[in-house]
Parts: sequence; C-alpha cells; structure tokens
Amino acid sequence: MILVTGGAGYIGSHTVRKLYGEGYQVLVLDNLCYGHRDAIVDPDVELVVGAVGDRDLLVDLFKKHNFDAVIHFAAFTYVGESVTSPLKYYRNNTAEPLILLEVMEEFGCKSFVFSSTCATYGEPQKLPLTEDHPQNPINPYGKSKLMVEWILKDCEVAFGLKSAALRYFNASGSSLDGKIGEDHDPEAHLIPLVLMSLTGELEKITVFGTDYSTPDGTCIRDYIHVADLAGAHLAAVNHLINGGESLQCNLGTGVGVSVKEIIDISEEVTGKKVPVVYGDRRPGDPARLVADPRMAKDLLGWEAEQKDVKAMIESAWKWLSGPRKGRFDE
Ligand SMILES: NC(=O)c1ccc[n+]([C@@H]2O[C@H](COP(=O)([O-])OP(=O)(O)OC[C@H]3O[C@@H](n4cnc5c(N)ncnc54)[C@H](O)[C@@H]3O)[C@@H](O)[C@H]2O)c1
Repeated sequence: MILVTGGAGYIGSHTVRKLYGEGYQVLVLDNLCYGHRDAIVDPDVELVVGAVGDRDLLVDLFKKHNFDAVIHFAAFTYVGESVTSPLKYYRNNTAEPLILLEVMEEFGCKSFVFSSTCATYGEPQKLPLTEDHPQNPINPYGKSKLMVEWILKDCEVAFGLKSAALRYFNASGSSLDGKIGEDHDPEAHLIPLVLMSLTGELEKITVFGTDYSTPDGTCIRDYIHVADLAGAHLAAVNHLINGGESLQCNLGTGVGVSVKEIIDISEEVTGKKVPVVYGDRRPGDPARLVADPRMAKDLLGWEAEQKDVKAMIESAWKWLSGPRKGRFDE
C-alpha cells in the first residue's frame, strides 16, 4: 500500500488515480487546507483528513497499514506568501515532514518520494538546468523544499531511507477524461489564470515584464503535463520499491514556452481573445527556466510523453470550461 500525503491536491490526485489504475492500494492523507474531497475519484481509495504533522494520527495509520512507500506532496505552494510568511512555510513544508520521517523510521518504511521543485535552483547560471546546477533558492518556498532534500540525504546515512526528490517544473493541464483538474484557490499559475480570464472568472490577465532577453520579451518556462508527472511518480515508487538507489531529478519536458506564446495558443484553442494587461517585471522572476530532463530518463526510464503545450492547454480548457465549471464542490 502507498501512503500519499496531499493526495487531494492537484498533482497528488492525478498521481493517486495513476497508482490506483496500476493496481496499487492507496491511502490519502490530506488536511484539505487546499485539497478537495471530490478530487479523489476512485471509490476504493480512502481519504484520511488530517495533517502530516499529526504524530498520533500517523502512528495510528502506520499501525493499521503496511506502507511500502510514501509519496509526499503535502505543502504550501505560494512563493509570494512564503516571502511574507516564511515561518508558515518552514513549519508546513519542512518541519511537518520531519514528523512523517520519524514515524517512517519507527515503522521501518524506507521508500520516500518527495515533491521538490525547480525553485530550489534559484537564478539559473546556465541552461537547461541540470541536477548538478548549484541550488541557491531565492525565496522561503524554495528553501523549505531544499532543506527537505538535505534531510532526506541525512536520513539515508542514518537509517537507510531511500528517496526520490523530484524537482518539478511547471505542472499544467488536467486529466484527459476531464474528471479532475487544477483547482487552486487562489490560483497562481499562468495557464489556468489565462483560461479563467476567458471563462469570466477573472477580468484580465497581467503579463509581468515584456523586456526580458527572450525572443518576445516575456518569461520562458518549461510546462509539464500533470498526467506525465503522475507517471513519473509511479516510476519513482517502482524504482524505490524494487531496491533502486536514491536520486534527485528534474521533471520537465526540456521545451521552453513564453508567456506570450501561452496567451496566443490559449486564444487559438478557445477561439477567444485574452484580455491582457502588460505590467512591470516582478522581482525574482528569472527570464528562463527550462529543465534538462535526461536524468529522469536514465534513472527512471521515464520521459514526458506530452511535449506540446497546446495539448496541455486543451486539456486545461476542457476541465475549466467543462460541466463541473472547473470547480470542485469541496
Ligand atoms: N504545481 C506546480 O507547478 C508545482 C511545481 C513544483 C513543485 N510543486 C510541489 O508539488 C506538490 C503538490 O503541488 P500542487 O500544485 O498539487 O498543490 P496543491 O495545493 O493542489 O496540493 C497540496 C495538497 O497538500 C495538502 N496539504 C498541505 N499541507 C498539508 C499538511 N500539513 N497536511 C496534510 N495535507 C496538507 C493540501 O490540502 C493540498 O491538497 C507541492 O509540494 C508543491 O510544492 C508543485
């Protein structure tokens, strides 16, 4: 059985479906601070509503179930908020996982897949970003994740924990059947924001900076479909359960797409005109962030199947404009 923390969230819920579809038994632990009960669609998947830092609850769960591995998605994810409320981020993203790791040690569970991020690299010194690029995060969110990467290495030395720290680039899209999708409140990611300006949920979309050293002057990012991310987690769990070594690797496509391109493609996909306002640069936004995705292929045999951002936007649009009106009930 696999314990998935944060499994009622965006990437977690897609991964839960993938694991379940591959025959794994899955238990989700999520306090629903941002997650949605409705995002768990498979009837045999149990949701336990509670926090990763609740030791008594964890001990209870580990007594009841024999977990082969833990996938840890649960975290706060707003970079800007992490600057104004760093302690909130260090407590939830760094301190709470310590409790989980302690309980894993106590019960001899030795496989841990961790949601890390390209934000651990900070300002790129060379592109594409390889895993040996220096990690100098420029905000508490990135630091809160990098600290867990360090802690995982120490746990391996101390009690043999094997871990896969997966550094995601920009997760996007929704499930291809339109059943689950991205539903953050507030939303902070470009593709849903652009599309929400087309469903009327937002009045306009602001483009932050048009004078970057990129072909069209707007920032370039590496967008990865959430279904591909789910597949990478399956590969990482299989790798660790089958005795594979610990690893840290990028999850991206290696393809860079600009903000302006996202807007243009969104207009093409939806046939609607995006209401755009051009603003100044935001502090801390690098011009380009693009992954070198080769290590994940070498170590996990995984690579993104969906490299065309248009298909990602189509799936996001299907969800956001679909019968659920893009919103879960809870
Ligand atoms: N979305 C991206 O593009 C992206 C990129 C890089 C890394 N990540 C990381 O991936 C993970 C998932 O991101 P997401 O976009 O799916 O976020 P999300 O907010 O949709 O999911 C996080 C889930 O964790 C739950 N949660 C938070 N703190 C908890 C706690 N202490 N105990 C129990 N549950 C808790 C929330 O209720 C939510 O369901 C996060 O760790 C995030 O930092 C995301």
